[in-house]
Amino acid sequence: MTRTLIRGGLVVTATDEIAADVLIDGEQVVALATPGSGLAEAFASDGTATVLDATGRYVIPGGVDAHTHMEMPFGGTVAADTFETGTRAAAWGGTTTIVDFAIQPAGGSLREGLDTWHAKAESRCAIDYAFHMIMSDVTEASLKEMETLVGAGVTSFKLFMAYPGVLYSDDGKVLRALQRGADTGGLIMMHAENGIAIDVLVEQALARGNTDPRYHGEVRHALLEAEATNRAIQLARVAGAPIYIVHLSATEALAEVTQARDAGVNAFAETCPQYLFLSVDDLARPDFEGAKYVCSTPLRPAEHQAALWRGLRTDDLSVVSTDHCPFCFTGQKDLGVGDFSKIPNGVPGVETRMDLLHQAVLDGRIGRRRWIEIACATPARMFGLYPRKGTIAPGSDADVVIYDPAAVHVLSARTHHMAVDYSCYEGRPVTGRAETVLSRGRVIVDGGQYLGSAGDGCFLRRDTCQALR
Ligand code: URP
Ligand code: ZN
Ligand code: ZN
Ligand code: ZN
Repeated sequence: MTRTLIRGGLVVTATDEIAADVLIDGEQVVALATPGSGLAEAFASDGTATVLDATGRYVIPGGVDAHTHMEMPFGGTVAADTFETGTRAAAWGGTTTIVDFAIQPAGGSLREGLDTWHAKAESRCAIDYAFHMIMSDVTEASLKEMETLVGAGVTSFKLFMAYPGVLYSDDGKVLRALQRGADTGGLIMMHAENGIAIDVLVEQALARGNTDPRYHGEVRHALLEAEATNRAIQLARVAGAPIYIVHLSATEALAEVTQARDAGVNAFAETCPQYLFLSVDDLARPDFEGAKYVCSTPLRPAEHQAALWRGLRTDDLSVVSTDHCPFCFTGQKDLGVGDFSKIPNGVPGVETRMDLLHQAVLDGRIGRRRWIEIACATPARMFGLYPRKGTIAPGSDADVVIYDPAAVHVLSARTHHMAVDYSCYEGRPVTGRAETVLSRGRVIVDGGQYLGSAGDGCFLRRDTCQALR
């Protein structure tokens, strides 16, 4: 059992900022000691503890990314990061927990999907991981299974109002899943876009010869995100269930969430760094480069960003996840040359979330504690992992990052660790970086060196949503 003392840093959690030493015994934090209390000295007195100096740095909980798709089969190909490469990249970026999406196979059971994803992730992950379940086929049988999954620690279920013929559920299915969510404690997560209407616009665009990546953004209209968001919320109210809207990108959709929350509805929403930092201008890049930025919901005109930042301040947006779903530009994104609807949807980002959000701390758009709240604590609470994950407190897992708020580095595919051949933020300088990363008490990244190994990460059985307690 290793014992570690992290000395001299500023411990930042969602609720506190205190100059304190962090005492770690084995896999857990055992105490926070204020300098001068003598506690840290006593802890280290027998010489067996490893001492890490965090002077001038923040000591923060490891990031919790509640939305990733490692090696996800999608759009005729498979997301480029495996559980091994993707979780290692996450660790490099200061994220120590992911919640990935297992998928119910067409015509199969939730259990089959879960078993398949367990087999992919087992013994491969660098950090701890959990699963949500994508329900692609809402049937009597799969609705019944939800209870078993909740008991197995898979306590959230994603449904799609988009992608007709693939992952789509109609309103009746959505309602039934929400009702079952209310009964079992399973939280329904919604991909809220009107997929039926979008498919009509896709067909019309292609018929006009509008085949470039930028049309992906035009056909996935902001109003069709807002309409589906509203519909999802009303269905949740009818079912008496809370709802969590994933990857929200449009001002109009946020307005629906805000209005519902103001009326006391338990509607929650996440956004992602790509919607906060990128725009349709990226989607319109020439020579098919826009394909790098094709994801759903799509990037919006830059004006939407201010609304999203405001939503993060008011808590109408309570989580920032990445929706990490990387496809290489060469060999994957190019499946859609001449037809934007064939570009695999998704962008890489699991490694860059903590640093990108830190830029907003530096320019005052969010506070330091709010940074930790949206990136660590609330995702952990929303998905039943708190306080094991998402904070630094006695009894919490020692998933701790020594974060240098002044380190400047440049985001680039040449230096990132994600298994994808481009960065959405190529050449962008950022200030702040994860210097040392501990996962359950073990140092896995330290000063530019990776010290962990595949299989360090454990599957996390989650409790039900803690955001309503
Ligand atoms: O474009 C995206 N978001 N790809 C991943 C699948 C999803 O809808 O989350
Ligand atoms: Zn989605
Ligand atoms: Zn996703
Ligand atoms: Zn870097």
